Amino acid sequence: MKNSNKPAAATSDIHQEETPQVCSYEGSDYQEVFWDTGERRYEDAVEEVALKRLMPKQGKLLLELGAGAGRNTPRYAGWERVVLLDYSRTQLLQARERLGDSSRYVYVTADIYKLPFVGGLFDGATMIRTLHHLSDANSALANVRRVLGEDAVFVLEFANKRNLKAIARYLLGKQKWNPFTKEQVEFVALNYNFHPKTVRKLLKENQFALKKQLTVSHFRINALKRRVKHEVLVALDSLFQHTGGIIQLSPSVFTKSVAVGSGQKPEGDAFFACPICDTSLPEARENQTCPGCGHLWAYEDGIYEFRINPES
Ligand SMILES: C[S@@+](CC[C@H](N)C(=O)[O-])C[C@H]1O[C@@H](n2cnc3c(N)ncnc32)[C@H](O)[C@@H]1O
Repeated sequence: MKNSNKPAAATSDIHQEETPQVCSYEGSDYQEVFWDTGERRYEDAVEEVALKRLMPKQGKLLLELGAGAGRNTPRYAGWERVVLLDYSRTQLLQARERLGDSSRYVYVTADIYKLPFVGGLFDGATMIRTLHHLSDANSALANVRRVLGEDAVFVLEFANKRNLKAIARYLLGKQKWNPFTKEQVEFVALNYNFHPKTVRKLLKENQFALKKQLTVSHFRINALKRRVKHEVLVALDSLFQHTGGIIQLSPSVFTKSVAVGSGQKPEGDAFFACPICDTSLPEARENQTCPGCGHLWAYEDGIYEFRINPES
């Protein structure tokens, strides 16, 4: 794979102790190699089905966390505005190239562990294939909850450690880690699979009320994908997705939750919040110096820079 597509670890010098390591996709050809070749047409299609089922058809301001190159963004067409947030500037440059510049899209490079928005700003959020890279899921979910308004919808996808393949491999002695235990498993550096019960617990502890669970990608097996017609596999997966309400044994699980409990409400035209000192900042579409700490936050190529110590 070009650039090996294996994201490297990026650490922030300033906030090294405070925020966990980020799995960097800077310069990665993830979209091109993982999705655009068509090899994962099945996974892409069944994720589309799940999103259609879980996302409100319409809404005002949506936050797409770990948006990458914007693969899913067109699926949120009924939302008035979408903020695409990713730690990787090169992923967002690709997203911008695909989606274009308009007042509908806001591109932001930032760390999910340090979200640069005022509290209660968003009416909805999605996080697809991204929890997978977060070592501290609890801190990430607390950050997400802070920037959501009351009753905001949160669609979270996670990689399920208790999936049938992992269970079979464990029982046959081909895999050391136990798929039934509650702790997350880091099977490759900065790549984590989670137990569904743990994710449900974390959602609850962070003021999210779980509304629905769909199991997705039941037939993620190359031999099956090669032999069975794409449309048939997608239709079967669509049917099986509903079993997620009873038990989760697929490699990917989609959850829909609603933000509950009280939280902050944004004031005036405040949109961003300095990730260093928390001072409110407007959506300026230009460089701005934080009046609180004096940090210069850049706006370049249509992308807001809010990483504290960017690698590029
Ligand atoms: C596997 S990709 C998924 C992209 C997109 N959601 C999709 O499904 O096509 C994971 C994305 O999460 C981003 N990411 C990982 N850790 C992050 C963090 N701490 N803050 C912001 N983005 C992060 C990566 O840069 C990458 O673009």
